[in-house]
Amino acid sequence: MHPDTPWWKTAVAYQIYPRSFADSNADGVGDLEGIRRHLDYLAWLGVDALWISPFYRSPMADFGYDVSDYCDVDPLFGTLDDFDRLVADAHGRGMKVIVDWVPNHTSDQHAWFRESRATRDNAKRDWYIWRDAKPGGSPPNNWISSFTFEPAWTLDDRTGQMYLHCFLEEQPDLNWQNPEVVAAMHDTLRFWLDRGVDGFRMDVIHLIGKDPTLADDPADLAALSHVPLNNRPETHELLRGLRTLLDSYNADRVAVGEVYLLDTKLVAEHYGHGDELHLNFNFPPLYTAWDAAKWRKQIERAARELDPIDAWPTWVLSNHDNARHRTRYGGSEARARAAALLLLTLRGTPFLYAGEELGLEDADVPPGRTVDPGGRDGCRAPIPWTADAPHGWEGAEPWLPWSPCSGERSVESLLADESSILHLYRRLISARKESPALLTGGIELLDAPRGVLAFSRRDVATADLRTVLVNFADETIDLEGFGSCEVVVSTAPGGEGARFTGTVSGASGVLLRG
Ligand code: NOJ
Repeated sequence: MHPDTPWWKTAVAYQIYPRSFADSNADGVGDLEGIRRHLDYLAWLGVDALWISPFYRSPMADFGYDVSDYCDVDPLFGTLDDFDRLVADAHGRGMKVIVDWVPNHTSDQHAWFRESRATRDNAKRDWYIWRDAKPGGSPPNNWISSFTFEPAWTLDDRTGQMYLHCFLEEQPDLNWQNPEVVAAMHDTLRFWLDRGVDGFRMDVIHLIGKDPTLADDPADLAALSHVPLNNRPETHELLRGLRTLLDSYNADRVAVGEVYLLDTKLVAEHYGHGDELHLNFNFPPLYTAWDAAKWRKQIERAARELDPIDAWPTWVLSNHDNARHRTRYGGSEARARAAALLLLTLRGTPFLYAGEELGLEDADVPPGRTVDPGGRDGCRAPIPWTADAPHGWEGAEPWLPWSPCSGERSVESLLADESSILHLYRRLISARKESPALLTGGIELLDAPRGVLAFSRRDVATADLRTVLVNFADETIDLEGFGSCEVVVSTAPGGEGARFTGTVSGASGVLLRG
């Protein structure tokens, strides 16, 4: 591996949704100190970087993605001192810390918006996007907001104009065409860079550049919400500005864009020519069914669209916005195990979502306990730490109900069972770390029988070679041609360290040396 390879190309990243990870003060909501207390577990697992979803001051209309102060910790999650301790202790274990940055919108309780909405002629009026309603009172354009699927405009009686919000009305969109907004938001990045963070996950970053004419979305697509439709050249100019700022610190800080454009070709454009974002999420694979042929197409597409030099891929199966992949793939543990092999052996940086290493499924959240306006409560259930209830969440009941089998799938139970999915994740991460081919090598898709996805990873400099066989079908499939290879990791029981038998049982996979 080249000595100049940046850490974020070889890292395994791990997303923590702080409300749901671990609670240190018995109020039923996870916090920063809770995360710090479990760093040894994360180091044992082998993850290299933590991405922590928002913990800033917020009225929590969107559970932290509505920020009212970018430069402080919400008391629910702790204090700036807690954050500093968490970063120091993560760094002490060799782990990087990536924080979430929410640039497209603030909370309606942010001081900037309070000022902006107060009068038509105040200094911050143009920091947000205000327009007159059309004659007759309809909104300035046909944009639809996410979650509510209502018009993305709300009339503010105080000044008689409408403001734009691509999400909830409590999340007004900032006007990034105003250089004062750009400067103020750059300052919020500096605040966290100066505190030692290693990078940012940038929330819906493709949204910050907007059509200055605010033209209607195509009528046949508008109902989707404006969010996946906003693909603008203005964004790229702004991304270059963000990159320059990050690079002025040192080349080690990373920006990971949440580009919610559901087309890999468009995602690829957000890398620029190595002068925009270092990494971008590519969501089409996350929305791909458990199907070998469909996955093959996604891998081919990523290889085709992402520039081999400037655009390092990322892979993600679960996050706080979507049903967990075990749930989406039908609840089978065997599939969840095979999916782990896939995620951790593809060419690119994998992002795990806390709890997937436990094989968690979504919680069934009864109507009386739903809290999220976007219907995403199920994937945000608390992490079970101990086998016995309340699973390490002493005190107040957690803010969301438990996911199924939380005792059996707790960290405590799975740590005690070497055949568990948790130990499988650890073995895969460790197998990845010891193989230059898996870390930075090329990928080649191989011919395989129907139902099987096969690819090799090769590092030319060291001649390191690995082969990955994933059987998406539920029945056993015999494969020819890999008989002399050693099984490094098998997602089904047995066989590791031995020669490959040529048989892959249903919904399982193997990582082979050679
Ligand atoms: C994407 C985030 O992942 C999601 O949780 C949030 O609701 C929206 N952006 C709005 O910030």
